[in-house]
Amino acid sequence: MFDVQKIRQDFPIINKKINGKPLVYLDSTASSLKPHQVISAENKYYEDYGVNIFRGVYSLSETATEKYEEARKIVAGFIGSSDEREVVFTRNATEAVNLAASSWGRSSLNQGENLVSTVMEHHANIVPWQEICREKKAELRFIDIVNLGQLDLDNLAQLIDQKTRLVALTYVSNVLGTINPVKNIINNIKSINSRTLILLDAAQAVPHLKVNVADLGADFIVFSGHKMLAPTGIGVLWGKYDVLQNMPPYQTGGEMIREVYLDHTIYNEIPYKFEAGTPNIAGTLGLAEAVRYLTGLGMNNVRNHEIEIVDYALNQLGKIKEITIYGPIKARDRGGVIAFNVKGIHPHDLAQILDTDNICIRSGHHCAMPLHQRLNIPASCRASFYIYNTRDEVDKLAEGIQKAQKILTTKD
Ligand SMILES: Cc1ncc(COP(=O)(O)O)c(C=O)c1O
Repeated sequence: MFDVQKIRQDFPIINKKINGKPLVYLDSTASSLKPHQVISAENKYYEDYGVNIFRGVYSLSETATEKYEEARKIVAGFIGSSDEREVVFTRNATEAVNLAASSWGRSSLNQGENLVSTVMEHHANIVPWQEICREKKAELRFIDIVNLGQLDLDNLAQLIDQKTRLVALTYVSNVLGTINPVKNIINNIKSINSRTLILLDAAQAVPHLKVNVADLGADFIVFSGHKMLAPTGIGVLWGKYDVLQNMPPYQTGGEMIREVYLDHTIYNEIPYKFEAGTPNIAGTLGLAEAVRYLTGLGMNNVRNHEIEIVDYALNQLGKIKEITIYGPIKARDRGGVIAFNVKGIHPHDLAQILDTDNICIRSGHHCAMPLHQRLNIPASCRASFYIYNTRDEVDKLAEGIQKAQKILTTKD
């Protein structure tokens, strides 16, 4: 049973009051709140066996190592990978894209070839590709958007050719909320050029949808723990075994080696080859606990709650005069995010007025400047929803926006 009120009891921050008023947290797209189960899992590591992994033969270190590797299996299972060696722990989604761009790009991309991304990407899935293309003198092309913020897929055959080495695209837009039909897109790309690799930015998908890497057909998938109830500082690069196996290390040093001599080094196998130095052990265990929590709720229930709350929010916000809501009309076609603008009010001013009632939304470009340029707007407001949000909170948001309209657009 999916019981929002019960779920809310698990989140210590939700039950805190600021200046005597309850918190209305509508910024989970930036970072979700953490349930006490996750916080306890991190604490437990420090309290019960907080030592380094791999290095010790003593039992505390062996326990820490076992838990760390168990976490890898749990994460692999959650995204439908049957081989946990395909799960590389990183700091976040950004580092995961950088790892792929740097390691794969430096070793495989050549002058005159091209990569393709989309105009709706988060900067994390644009800038690393810009850098590697600049370095390799390769071209970076972009899939445009049409209508309400869907990718312009009619254009795919013009953009992808025999020199397209990789397509980097998002599963769910962190601004428009658009859920891209990634399985079809991947099939289409592979039918045009079967050797083109696909990197899927699933930072806004894994926390909200059942993601199955075996089913999707991508070569890389990246996501961050902190958007899915886990601590900050832990993320994932999932890659197909053969693809990862053929990539050189990203960073070098301890842990990622098998043998070191003064004149050369033999690297460890995957995934360790990509995990140089002491990892975020506590964060990894927190991520495993977050996965347990989400699995306990059931990802179908997580998604259904999101559709219900986004549908309600689209209706309530849609009633407000002079509001423009970006992205697909139907809740089913979008993730848990609604970006909007209110005529005559700067997004930062609106966010600040909402903050006086402890309503937390984002304002700005949400690390998607090219998308805002494409939409011809300097900035937008963004409210986002997760497992703990209620209709009552949506009502408070709608009332807060109307209050801001009264304050900021009254003419004297
Ligand atoms: C779609 C998308 N990709 C990538 C990122 C980057 O995530 P992180 O900052 O955790 O690396 C974000 C963060 O907002 C995002 O929404």
